[in-house]
Amino acid sequence: MNKPVLVVHGGAWVVPSEEFDAHKKGLQDALEIGMAILKNNGSALDAVEKAIASMENSGVFDAGIGAVLNDQGDVELDAQIMKSNLEAGAVAAIRNYKNPISIARKVMETTPHSLLVGDGAGEFAKKSGFSKIDMQRMISKKEFDRFSQKKDEGFGTVGAVALDLFGNMCAGTSTGGTRGKLHGRVGDSPLIGAGGYCDFETGGASATGHGESFMKILACKTACDYLKIEKTAQLAAENTIALLERRTSGKGGIILLRKDGDIGIAFNTKNMARGFATNEKTEAMI
Ligand code: GLY
Repeated sequence: MNKPVLVVHGGAWVVPSEEFDAHKKGLQDALEIGMAILKNNGSALDAVEKAIASMENSGVFDAGIGAVLNDQGDVELDAQIMKSNLEAGAVAAIRNYKNPISIARKVMETTPHSLLVGDGAGEFAKKSGFSKIDMQRMISKKEFDRFSQKKDEGFGTVGAVALDLFGNMCAGTSTGGTRGKLHGRVGDSPLIGAGGYCDFETGGASATGHGESFMKILACKTACDYLKIEKTAQLAAENTIALLERRTSGKGGIILLRKDGDIGIAFNTKNMARGFATNEKTEAMI
């Protein structure tokens, strides 16, 4: 039996100090939900999906309810989920659904495809029984104000990586993308290998930050590959962010979990909302 581990993030950027408590609570809730599943013999897949859904529902992060608005003032969401046997599902530029991580899982489990986008993703969600939600209910006052003031800073993508008692792993990522993005823009988060990756030969990763930079270095696949040559997951995560900075000048962060449970977290922004849970300890940090 393995020891269960869950690592989560809620974005790497300059988190306003008045939002620290809400971010920490959002992370702690996600860790509690995911770790309860893992401790009760649940799967890494369920732990990652439910931990991310909790952050999507919190209204705190750039994911699900309260995600950033695009240039038309709408919420368009991207998400992916990937198991360590390389099964994966993703949705991009989906509107009017608050839990794209669960729709991504449904893509993985019920279709021969890995990524559905836009209207097609929405039609698939409807046919699969997910409830549509009015756009106005997706938009938080905080994000409406930021949109009105044309503020474009911030990367509050959420993600999780888990190792379950049976040695299976899963990684997931969910985001509203970047503030003021062009309608139809898709970042790294739903792209397998860029915003997330998972492989039982190495480990799992989830990224947050400037998607156009992360996709250029396939950041999460790169981080998992570094696990083969670095002594610790921390060094592998740090090397990935160093590569990101050197080759793209991009900003953001990454969580990385080696197949034996070793954790790595690195970022080159002022803050990163991040946390982990093991049998011994649960910690959420900004
Ligand atoms: N990393 C999230 C995005 O750029 O869309």
